[in-house]
Amino acid sequence: MERKYNYEIMDLIQSRWSPRAFSEEKLSREEIMPLIEAARFAPSCFNEQPWRFIIAIDEENLEKMRNVLMPGNQVWANKAPVLLLIAAKKTFTYNNKENFWHMFDTGTAWGFLSLEAQRRGLITHAMGGFDMDQARLSFNIPEDYEIITIVAVGKYGNKENLDPKLQTREHPDGRMETEKLILK
Ligand SMILES: Cc1cc2nc3c(=O)[nH]c(=O)nc-3n(C[C@H](O)[C@H](O)[C@H](O)COP(=O)(O)O)c2cc1C
Repeated sequence: MERKYNYEIMDLIQSRWSPRAFSEEKLSREEIMPLIEAARFAPSCFNEQPWRFIIAIDEENLEKMRNVLMPGNQVWANKAPVLLLIAAKKTFTYNNKENFWHMFDTGTAWGFLSLEAQRRGLITHAMGGFDMDQARLSFNIPEDYEIITIVAVGKYGNKENLDPKLQTREHPDGRMETEKLILK
């Protein structure tokens, strides 16, 4: 699907999309840490920085992370060399009160992370399709952290390796019209 831009915006936003054709090429932790660094500098309410990550990059943790994905995601995401779980701390550290903005701020951090990945020639694909309770158990994540998403990170591989149905979806998705985003 062709994307149409109504206004001129930065190239990285234009070129980022969510592919499924991951290459099995391994990445090092040093290649992933700059993405965490980009997330680190996202703005957040009271500078709480509620975003937290579990980086599955070794075979043992990758297998644990793959096991919590829904089958429809496993078929393509199992090839990704890195699976990144993103969680958000629900309370402010300074007073232990509820932080209404924890998901908002963590979303911003994921946005920064995905654009830094794009700049470095890496692809990212976020997934909501996974078993959150299982993820909490498998990685022993405390209740004070909302588990939001698992992101596949890697390099682009070969579209032909996807099953035919997924090949037809292997393109950047379009968007609703800019004007529709304005409520009033
Ligand atoms: C929080 C979140 C959850 C998502 N969950 C899934 C998922 O479980 N499986 C999947 O294939 N894509 C998933 N996606 C990818 C979206 O479908 C995709 O971002 C959207 O269609 C826009 O396409 P684009 O990222 O290529 O621009 C998810 C994206 C986000 C941000």
